[in-house]
Amino acid sequence: MEVVRTIKDLSKIIDNQRVSGSKIGFVPTMGALHQGHISLVKRAGEECSFVVVSIFVNPTQFNNKEDLERYPRDLGADVALLEKTKCNLIFAPTAEEMYPEPDTRAFNFGDIENVMEGVYRPGHFNGVAQIVSKLFDAVRPDNAYFGLKDFQQLAIIKKMVNMMNYPITIVPCAIVREADGLAMSSRNKLLSKEQRENATVISKTLFDAVKLKDNYDVESLKKWVTETINNNPYLDTEYFEIVNDTTLQPINNWDEKVNKIGCIAVHCGKVRLIDNVMF
Ligand code: PAF
Repeated sequence: MEVVRTIKDLSKIIDNQRVSGSKIGFVPTMGALHQGHISLVKRAGEECSFVVVSIFVNPTQFNNKEDLERYPRDLGADVALLEKTKCNLIFAPTAEEMYPEPDTRAFNFGDIENVMEGVYRPGHFNGVAQIVSKLFDAVRPDNAYFGLKDFQQLAIIKKMVNMMNYPITIVPCAIVREADGLAMSSRNKLLSKEQRENATVISKTLFDAVKLKDNYDVESLKKWVTETINNNPYLDTEYFEIVNDTTLQPINNWDEKVNKIGCIAVHCGKVRLIDNVMF
């Protein structure tokens, strides 16, 4: 498994793989890899003959400088973990390599970005689209693999692929959870022991909410979830929305003939965690 740092070196390898007819699978990551990422790599390895994983903490998608600085980084551990998978190539560029000049592109994804993460992390999805489009241009994959934990990000990426006519199949992959239910996230590494223990309340409350759905109207269930989580002194809910899983617009009643997903962001100390559950 090779690690390359430049788009030029990456391109040479990708060109050779294209000539030899490989199907290229791509897993973009910001490193600090966990079993959630590994499940994406595994799926890519099952469906593609050449798997590329990128590791790059993308500055343009952080709307908070401290969050960017605190984001966990450990390339050595990531490489060691990927050695045990079907990953063929790691692309780990520097910020100068990806942004030789400031990226001034402004994407407009319409209504799907004007809710949830889009409201609470202004500019976040523009930064995600900037880096993912640059990575897609560099890797030119057939398939790209994204986790459903970042549900809104997945919707944005699908829209970007359509808007820009990328010949890439986006493959959504299930959330991977710790044994106690906490959705796996690189940010979990930043939690103290007590925060980590209390963070399980988030997924537990979401699962309970699904069971309680028939006893509440949508607004009351949203209130119940927020209050239950905020009753825990370690947790502070930023938002909990139940939305149409295609338009991402909030639903008002359970009868709507659409698939519904409940998406949440919760602060646990300085660590911001997201999760979601289908209703
Ligand atoms: O989901 C992530 O880890 C990042 O947003 C991504 C897609 C790698 C872009 O930096």
